[in-house]
Amino acid sequence: MIIRPEREGDFTAIHEVVRLAFETEEMSDHQEHILVERLRQTEDFITELSLVCEMDQRIVGYILFSSIKIVGHQKETQSLALAPVAVLPAYQHRGIGSKLIEIGHKQALQLGFTSVVVLGHANYYPKFGYQKASNFGIHLPFDVPDENCMVVELEEHALQHCSGVVHYPEAFTI
Ligand SMILES: CC(C)(COP(=O)(O)OP(=O)(O)OC[C@H]1O[C@@H](n2cnc3c(N)ncnc32)[C@H](O)[C@@H]1OP(=O)(O)O)[C@@H](O)C(=O)NCCC(=O)NCCS
Repeated sequence: MIIRPEREGDFTAIHEVVRLAFETEEMSDHQEHILVERLRQTEDFITELSLVCEMDQRIVGYILFSSIKIVGHQKETQSLALAPVAVLPAYQHRGIGSKLIEIGHKQALQLGFTSVVVLGHANYYPKFGYQKASNFGIHLPFDVPDENCMVVELEEHALQHCSGVVHYPEAFTI
């Protein structure tokens, strides 16, 4: 298993991995592959945090962290949004999703990011340190269940005194 940043020649494969991973997901608008392509055109896209997993000489998994802000009354905090993480159905349940998240977190920290926000499965993310965003007074700008809005501190206390509303890049809302 090789996990590495995307290259230009990977774009079509990434599109397919994301599309196929979400194809049968109930809680999905099935537009995640389009979201990746939109984000890639923006300044919030971070190539070093757009990671593919290669196995059997093909791309079987993908994760993207893009730049966001948590905007409070007193200050703005730089953070990341994890969206999407996707593994081809035939390659799921082998630890690829976990590896993409773990390596993504390490890479994010090396780049100076100290927290990540995710809107996702309440049972999947806690094992990577995610907890409810509302515990930190952080809220998402959508009407979604509290338990699905999660954050992780990549550095201890990174989100202390960072309460506010998450501001996503425009690409998320078009
Ligand atoms: C979520 C996803 C990336 C996990 O990838 P993976 O490589 O299968 O993950 P891992 O092998 O590291 O972990 C598998 C474990 O994750 C958990 N898991 C997977 N999907 C889950 C879900 N929808 N809800 C809760 N837990 C889930 C299970 O506990 C599973 O354990 P098991 O293998 O014993 O059944 C993959 O299932 C996927 O691409 N799903 C479709 C897209 C998606 O839903 N992305 C996340 C959006 S929040």
